[in-house]
Amino acid sequence: MDNLDKAALYAGVLRDLEAVLAGIADDVTAMATCACLLHERLPYASWAGFYRVVAPELLRVGPYQGPLGCLEISFGRGVCGTAARLRATQLVDDVDRFPGHIACDAAARSEIVVPIFDGGGELIAVLDVDSHQPAAFDEEDQAGLERIAGALRAYLASGRAALR
Ligand code: SME
Repeated sequence: MDNLDKAALYAGVLRDLEAVLAGIADDVTAMATCACLLHERLPYASWAGFYRVVAPELLRVGPYQGPLGCLEISFGRGVCGTAARLRATQLVDDVDRFPGHIACDAAARSEIVVPIFDGGGELIAVLDVDSHQPAAFDEEDQAGLERIAGALRAYLASGRAALR
């Protein structure tokens, strides 16, 4: 994995995401396109997608690519629920050492979860990327995914405004 240019990979994902979504204001379309691009482009990603906030303190699976994900996660549970509760990125090198990790996929070894906010700063989802490789994610993934989260936030803000 050392010879992977992660910065270039994420720059490509971001560029294509913005190009594909130009002119379309739809949250689900944006999330589905983002999940597809991440799963296709990151060779170490086994699962990539979103859990949406559907009720107070409750995440439900949204658009994703990969093996079947669990359907609902309460805030505070597992890596996704912790990211939602703390409103902060969780980077986990070894999921077996993360208290309360939810093993939807027994082969998952590491993961990163990034909170997604709308234009008003409200948490609307988390972006979860999992890997079958231990310690697959690092600061470059965090920077790349947080940049994508920022782009989605801007997109959602403008989309909502455009729909009004
Ligand atoms: N591993 C996650 C659960 C979701 S999936 O594996 C798709 C967690 O502990 O939050």
